[in-house]
Amino acid sequence: MIGDALELGLVIPTFNEKANVATLIARLDLALAGRNWEAIFVDDDSPDDTAGAARAIARHDPRVRVIQRIGRRGLSSACIEGMCATAAPFVAVIDGDLQHDETLLPAMLDRLHHGETDVVIGSRFVAGGGTGAWDSDRVAKSAFATRLSRAVLKADLSDPMSGFFMIRTDIVRRLAPSLSAIGFKILLDLLTASPQPLRFVELPYTFRVRVEGESKLDHVVALEYLIAIYDRMFGRFVPVRFAMFSAIGLLGVGIHMAVLTALFMGLGAQFLASEILATFVALTFNFFLNNALTYRDRRLKGWRQLVDGWVSFAVICSVGAVANVGIAAFLYEMRDGAWAASALVGVLVGAVWNYALSSKFTWGR
Ligand code: GDD
Ligand code: MN
Repeated sequence: MIGDALELGLVIPTFNEKANVATLIARLDLALAGRNWEAIFVDDDSPDDTAGAARAIARHDPRVRVIQRIGRRGLSSACIEGMCATAAPFVAVIDGDLQHDETLLPAMLDRLHHGETDVVIGSRFVAGGGTGAWDSDRVAKSAFATRLSRAVLKADLSDPMSGFFMIRTDIVRRLAPSLSAIGFKILLDLLTASPQPLRFVELPYTFRVRVEGESKLDHVVALEYLIAIYDRMFGRFVPVRFAMFSAIGLLGVGIHMAVLTALFMGLGAQFLASEILATFVALTFNFFLNNALTYRDRRLKGWRQLVDGWVSFAVICSVGAVANVGIAAFLYEMRDGAWAASALVGVLVGAVWNYALSSKFTWGR
């Protein structure tokens, strides 16, 4: 064997963190002096070429590795891929923007070595920890998210949203197939995916203020968090994507009626022309909203992809509409008078059709 065995893998998810890469490696080098570690950047093809900056260091420092994902986005899925890519027995996730306190890492590692726990979590909300300079808005949102997470996680954890933790790698590998990989809450996901409760310890740290770059925790990510909670609670009965697709479909019906009312009632346009335009608007609205939300992780981009996607979506939905009407009419014939139930079954079959085909053809790659 050459040298000492690898002890710790550090997974660093990045998106536009170029300015922080070199500083982070220098700090890890200091904090983990005497330990055998490797750092794995998992970069989602950042426009600022974070991956290139990390590779420039990796050429001279074999402890540094880079996974550059093309056409993919998502913090959780990046963390999962990074964690599965190390041969080290322990693995930590640490943000690439220097907000997490890397000096906590040796203490985390010691706890795991000792075998007293499965996961060590950096917490901002146990005594001695803190959120640094957060505004009251972010504090309130974070408190809300934390409370909500308690609904799915029946454990007394002060910071389930923490993006800073260390875990035994074999546990991650075992749980990886049942992780949902949506959004930001990878730790919560790991803890809830485990059939027998994982043992955890929380160590306090203070969340630092970001100096370079900006946060990616936007409204869509917040929405994804709610979706993830839904997934853990009801996902077994109605899959998240289908629920989102249907909710957006309902919004589309609202848009359709609004456009129709404006054109036909408001402007006195022909009914047929108004219907065609309303359908066009609602379809386009649904396409873009599904592209931005339901299929955010496989979003179509650029003219070419968007036009192709729109056309396939339109074709699929047209067939869905025919099926919808056909089935409703058939049922209405069979069970004379049950008009509402017939229509609802038609809608449901149409929705399942649209969903199944568009997920395979419009957003399937
Ligand atoms: N690969 C990849 N893909 N990395 C990403 C993505 C993505 O889609 N989105 C964000 N990142 C990286 C960022 O570059 C950064 O290194 C790290 O993930 C955290 O992202 P920030 O955008 O800085 O998140 P934050 O500081 O607002 O949120 C932190 O606190 C949350 C709880 O309050 C993170 O630690 C979260 O994990 C945590 O839930
Ligand atoms: Mn951050």
